[in-house]
Amino acid sequence: MVVDAVERKIEQYLSELDDQYVLKLYKGLPHGKRLRTKLILKIAGSSLKIIKTAATVEMIHAASLLHDDVIDDANTRRGKKSVNASEGNKTAIMMGDILYSKAFFELNDISSEVAKVISNAVVQLSLGELADVRLSEKFHTNRDAYLSMLYQKTASLMEASAESAAILAGKNRKAYRQYGHNLGLAFQMIDDILDITEDTETLGKPALHDFVEGKVTLPYIYLYEKLLEEERKVLVSLHKKILTNDEELWIKSAMKKHRIIEKSYAEAKVLVDEAIDLMESLGEEDLSNIAKAMIERKF
Ligand code: FPP
Ligand code: MG
Repeated sequence: MVVDAVERKIEQYLSELDDQYVLKLYKGLPHGKRLRTKLILKIAGSSLKIIKTAATVEMIHAASLLHDDVIDDANTRRGKKSVNASEGNKTAIMMGDILYSKAFFELNDISSEVAKVISNAVVQLSLGELADVRLSEKFHTNRDAYLSMLYQKTASLMEASAESAAILAGKNRKAYRQYGHNLGLAFQMIDDILDITEDTETLGKPALHDFVEGKVTLPYIYLYEKLLEEERKVLVSLHKKILTNDEELWIKSAMKKHRIIEKSYAEAKVLVDEAIDLMESLGEEDLSNIAKAMIERKF
């Protein structure tokens, strides 16, 4: 499979560094859904330049998660022990730096236009992570700030992946960029919903983890808007707190009562539908199917 060729390319890049420990650490990382690779391959086929582009994007994504787990003090990543938990923060940070800088070195060799698009997305990614940290300090109801952070943190790299693939394939970069943008935003919105609706086993991380970590995601912002004054105080008091079973139930039943999940899901669906329409108008059935599958995912 072509996805395997991307994996082999990453391993080849890392072998060139001549450091067995780094290679071993990389091989131990849990594989994600490889959504960015799938987008790139579906848009642009499987020439060597495309495989290389997908490899650099996955390395950057892996780097950002290594750093994110240090920042979030997360012990698990996709159900496995995180690198910061098993090897310590210093190793996780440096491993992220190695992946990121090697990816950037290789990017220069692919196309300067693609290198520009992707490196700009990494700036956005980093600004988004910083905004996330600041927004998580205290309870807030700033939907615009939250959405702009989501765009930077998650959508920017998907949008850059789709745009880069379009550049290399000689397709309309603006249209594919829009597709990646919508898909990226909807992806993170659904992630935020699943954190509330799914159990720990399915997610590979504790449920309602976002709120405990301090992240006031869209469903919590919408819930706050619906609550009475006294209930609002309760919700704010639970922010960043390890929840008892009763408190967890209180949040979940308040979400249910006010149909918050439906509202948040509908918002993600508008973005996905737009992406589907766009791809259907371009005759890109596989890309439209990726968008359809995303709205139905459970983890
Ligand atoms: C996950 O968010 C985090 C990201 C998608 C981006 C993190 C970006 C950086 C750390 C900056 C970029 C740095 C480099 C070196 C490329 P989350 O914590 O909401 O999601 P999670 O539940 O998967 O942890
Ligand atoms: Mg995190």
